[in-house]
Amino acid sequence: MDETRLIRSLRSVRRFDSRPIPQDVLGDILEAARWTGSGKNSQPWRLVAVRDRETLAALSRCGQFAFHLEEAPAAIVLSMDDADHLFDEGRLAQNIQLGAWAHGVGSCIASFFPGENIAAARELLGVPEERSCHTAISLGYPADVDALRIPPGFESVVPRGRMPLTELVGWERYGEPRS
Ligand SMILES: Cc1cc2nc3c(=O)[nH]c(=O)nc-3n(C[C@H](O)[C@H](O)[C@H](O)COP(=O)(O)O)c2cc1C
Repeated sequence: MDETRLIRSLRSVRRFDSRPIPQDVLGDILEAARWTGSGKNSQPWRLVAVRDRETLAALSRCGQFAFHLEEAPAAIVLSMDDADHLFDEGRLAQNIQLGAWAHGVGSCIASFFPGENIAAARELLGVPEERSCHTAISLGYPADVDALRIPPGFESVVPRGRMPLTELVGWERYGEPRS
């Protein structure tokens, strides 16, 4: 069905071309983030939009699979009020990625870990110590059509595709096939 094509076609993009993201496009992606729903509308988040090449390169060294930040023309770093908002953070990340994809801008999550890398990312961005700083989202136009596929060598780390609906969904009760 065409109605959900944008959502279904969202893939992680880890290679970008050098085209910068226009400011109005970046602004619209940030608007999509701003309108994310959160528990009790608490909006327990702040964002750091990063375009500086040196900062992006330094952030790319803050996670084992954060390399794609180095090539990305921009990134958005998520900072939650504290560690209790993982559900809200996931929704925020998804809004950013779908907002970007609506403009043809590819994206990928970069997780910062372990603790010393989170501290390094906080320091680089001036994020206060009590706030979370473990997730960034690379943004950029895909380098080529292959950039929408999982990169060679990555398949050993993450599986390709998704489980079938028959495995994912139980009807009326857990694990029950549709009657
Ligand atoms: C919580 C979370 C953390 C992730 N961390 C990383 C990461 O550090 N580096 C990376 O390249 N991809 C990361 N990803 C992207 C996943 O690997 C990717 O979404 C998954 O393999 C499915 O592929 P697809 O997004 O292309 O459909 C992360 C995704 C999630 C939801």
